[in-house]
Amino acid sequence: MDETQRPAGNEMWGGRFAAKPAAIMQEINASIDFDKRLYAEDIAGSKAHAAMLAAQGIISAANEAEIQRGLDLVLGEIEAGKFTFSREREDIHMNVEARLAELIGPAAGRLHTARSRNDQVALDFRLHVKRAFQETESALVRLIEAFLDRAEEHAETVMPGFTHLQVAQPVTFGHHCLAYVEMFARDRSRCRDALARLDESPLGAAALAGTPYPIDRHQTAATLGFSNGPTRNSIDSVSDRDFALEYLSTASILATHLSRLAEEIVIWSTPQFGFVRLSDAFSTGSSIMPQKKNPDAAELVRAKAGRITGALVSLLMVMKGLPLAYSKDMQEDKEQVFDAIDSVGLSLAAASGMVRDMTVDRQAMRRAAGHGFSTATDLADWLVREAGLPFREAHHVTGRAVALAESSGVRLEELPLDVLRGLHPGITQGVFDVLSVDASVKSRRSFGGTAPENVRREIAEWRTRLAAK
Ligand code: ARG
Repeated sequence: MDETQRPAGNEMWGGRFAAKPAAIMQEINASIDFDKRLYAEDIAGSKAHAAMLAAQGIISAANEAEIQRGLDLVLGEIEAGKFTFSREREDIHMNVEARLAELIGPAAGRLHTARSRNDQVALDFRLHVKRAFQETESALVRLIEAFLDRAEEHAETVMPGFTHLQVAQPVTFGHHCLAYVEMFARDRSRCRDALARLDESPLGAAALAGTPYPIDRHQTAATLGFSNGPTRNSIDSVSDRDFALEYLSTASILATHLSRLAEEIVIWSTPQFGFVRLSDAFSTGSSIMPQKKNPDAAELVRAKAGRITGALVSLLMVMKGLPLAYSKDMQEDKEQVFDAIDSVGLSLAAASGMVRDMTVDRQAMRRAAGHGFSTATDLADWLVREAGLPFREAHHVTGRAVALAESSGVRLEELPLDVLRGLHPGITQGVFDVLSVDASVKSRRSFGGTAPENVRREIAEWRTRLAAK
């Protein structure tokens, strides 16, 4: 570049600046180290913008052709790893534009007509978050499918259901899997809701006020694949990052669900529970204790929730109190979001892997399901149904039966009939039909209940919903 035209300060705004930034200024100001991740979106945005400028007669067709050719070259260099990213050029927008000028000369100077880095970064970041939402949604579908397959396999597998992590009532493992299907399906629906709101193009808002050039924002929005056209207010377009906050909040809720799943896998895979075994693929050994097999993948998924929610809190704190429109604070939006996107991708992939990979020990689950007098509620319900007791009284009689069984070290169904009749004369042999864990789960056919036939019906329902997209 000619030093007489572009003095020492900066190749983009050297006109007003005589000196270079202090080293520490460059250090705090440059974002290229992380926003280079937006190169594809930045170039796609510039190509759409240049085409529109030419179509509107704002730049010549010849200049546009040069710009398109140059941008393809820049893209090729970056993808081939041959591009030198420079901190002096601050961010991805100026790195691309400066390189374009080196490659094609003066025509490059026309690209930034009717545009600002403010709408440029808003566009690039939106496109990136849009893709992240789409990828998260697909990964969620894969996880849901993994759970549906396991639920199908285990529609009849009995396990203890817990409240307070104390054995509560028997449930089926299939039903437990379907609880996660519901959670992850809601996460998926949150992705879709947010995607619909995000799907507008901020390009053409320029610095904050719009532009005097006769641009066509509907054209660039369509070229860039935004279903809902251009954003409707130039100030808002460059000011808000709520689409990123929606990604992070959706991601935080999703990560919280994953963390609970991970915690259950950690608990289930202890020798004390022994409900599942993770293969070598998702565990590690200990460098000192040869017998150990640790559920590291589950533990890391559990931990990522903290990191992802940290990103949400961090960006909320960056945005609060910012006057409209753009402030440089907003450059601090990207690292957190990028880190969250990567963490969500890894966590979902690891979770799907573990769900598909874990070996379920039916016997261990069944044994545990019978512990802790888990069918006590079934006894109480029987007393209501068959002996006509009010539920409160049935609860009391059952409590005494549990106390008796506990003190004599037997299960509820091992108490002899005459002992049970001593508690209430209305009790007959028929009571033993409901005291087994299988009878218990089979009887819970209320809508949304744990019975194997419900589980099968819900699996079919979810498969239909997934096929409908
Ligand atoms: N690197 C900047 C960012 O990420 C781009 C926008 C700069 N705009 C400005 N007016 N300084 O936010």
